[in-house]
Amino acid sequence: MASASGIQAAEHDATSAPATSSKQDVNPWSVSGEVGEDGKVKAIDYRKLVEDFGTALIDDALLQRFEKVTGHKPHRFMRRQIVFSHRDLSLILDRYEKNEPFFLYTGRGPSSDSMHIGHTQVFDFVKWLQDVLDAPLIIMLTDDEKYLFSEKRTVDEVMGYCRTNAMDIIAVGFDPKKTFIFSDFQYVGGAFYKNIVRFAKRVTYNTVKAIFGFDGSSNIGKIHFASIQGATSFASSFPHIFGEDESKTASIPCLIPCAIDQDPYFRLTRDCAAGLHLAKPSLIHMRFLDALQGPGSKMSASDDTSAIFLNDSAKQIKTKINKYAFSGGRETLEEHRQKGGDADVDVSYQYLQFFLESDEELAKIKADYNSGKLLTGELKAMCIDHLQKYVGGFQERRSRVTDAVVDEFMSTRPLEWKGNPKVPRADLVVPDIKPGEDGAAAGEAGSGKLSKNQLKKMLKEQQIAQRKAAMAKDKTVDSEAAASGGP
Ligand code: TRP
Repeated sequence: MASASGIQAAEHDATSAPATSSKQDVNPWSVSGEVGEDGKVKAIDYRKLVEDFGTALIDDALLQRFEKVTGHKPHRFMRRQIVFSHRDLSLILDRYEKNEPFFLYTGRGPSSDSMHIGHTQVFDFVKWLQDVLDAPLIIMLTDDEKYLFSEKRTVDEVMGYCRTNAMDIIAVGFDPKKTFIFSDFQYVGGAFYKNIVRFAKRVTYNTVKAIFGFDGSSNIGKIHFASIQGATSFASSFPHIFGEDESKTASIPCLIPCAIDQDPYFRLTRDCAAGLHLAKPSLIHMRFLDALQGPGSKMSASDDTSAIFLNDSAKQIKTKINKYAFSGGRETLEEHRQKGGDADVDVSYQYLQFFLESDEELAKIKADYNSGKLLTGELKAMCIDHLQKYVGGFQERRSRVTDAVVDEFMSTRPLEWKGNPKVPRADLVVPDIKPGEDGAAAGEAGSGKLSKNQLKKMLKEQQIAQRKAAMAKDKTVDSEAAASGGP
C-alpha cells in the first residue's frame, strides 16, 4: 500500500534520524521496523501499533460472532492474526444480521505497473469478504495521490498505471455485478466532490500536520488529499449505487479492509463523519507481507529482489525464494537437526501462513521445522510450490481481463447484491432518476445516470430477492435452502 518513495520520508524526518537506532515508523508513505542498538531491523510490532493508533485487536469473541452471524468460518488471515485489528467491525456485523445496507471500500495507489504479491493480499481478503457478505464493493485508485506524492511521475503516467493496476485487481476475481472501480482523475465531480469539499471544510492544516507530519513546504495537494480518500467512505458519494436521497444514504456505513498504514486517513474520516452526521466507516486492518529479506521489511515494487511479482515466472519464483528468502535455519545441517530452526523469522514459513489454507498442516510444518525434522530446503520447496500455484492462477485469470472488462468495472452503473440471505433487505436503495433523463447512455463512464430499463431491471431483482428472503423467513427453513430456493 504505502510506497517507500522517500519523498515523504523527509517530512517525517526519517532521513535525518541517526543511522544507529530508531523507533518503528508506520505511516501511509513509509514503513520501517525498529532499528536496535546493534543496527539490526526488528519485525514490525503490530501490538504496539494497535496501542499507538488506538484500534482494537480482533479477539476470539469477535471471531466467534463473525462465524455465528455469517455462517462462515473466519478467513485464514483472521484466524492467524494477519487481519489482526479493527474499528467497529461489530457494527457491520449488526447490520449484516438485520440485512441493512453497508458497503466494502478499499483502494490502491497506482504507483507503478509492477504489482507484487504483497499488493494482492488485501484484495484477496476483500474478495472473500465480498463473497461471504454478498456486499457491494468500491475500489478507489488514487492516481492523484501518486502524482502529488512523487517528484517525478507525470499525470499521464499514473493514469496509465491506473488502467493496468485495475486489470491486476480485477484478476483477483471480483464480481463485476457488485464491484465499482474508479480513478480519482476520472470520477471526482458531482456528488463525490460535494462530499470532498464538505470533508475539506472540517479539516484544518493543524490537524493534517499533526496526523501526517506535513509542514510548510508540503504542496497543498497533499494537504487536501485526505479529503478525497476520506470522502470515498460516504455512501452519498455514489448515487448510482445508493441513490440520491441523502437522508437515506447518510446512515449507510462502509467497512474498509486495509493495511494498517492507512489507518491515519480513516481516524480523521471517522471524526469528520461524526461532524457531518454521516455513518462512520468501520475498519479491519491487515499486516504486511514481509519482503524476502525478512521481518521488519516490506516488499517494494522498485526492488526486484525484495518481492515476488505477479508476472514472475515459475522459475523466477523458485530462484528468488532459494536465493533471497531469509531463513530461520541453522548454519549447518547437523546444527539444524540438533537445535531446530526458528519458523517465526523464516520468510518461507511467513509466506505459508498467508497461502496455506489448512491450520493443521501449518502447525505441523512449524513444529517440524522448529524441532529440526524439517530442513530449510524442504520448507522452501513447499513455499515455492504454493507461490507458483498462486501466481500461476493469477496469471491465468489476468490473461482473460480485456479492455472491455475494465470499462465495465469502471463504468458508473447500479450494482446488484442481496446481503444476508436469511433476512429480507431492510432498505431498498434505489437510485433516484429525474424526469427527462430517460435513455441517458446506460453505464457510460462518468454519466452516473440510469436508463429506465436498468432501473426496472434493478427493481425487479431487488423485489425477487426480497420475496425469496421473506419466504425463507416465513417457512423458517434452514439457511442453506433459503439461499438456493427460488420463488
Ligand atoms: N492511499 C492508498 C495507497 O496509497 C490507496 C487507498 C485509497 C486505499 N483508499 C483506500 C487503501 C482505502 C486501502 C483502503 O495505496
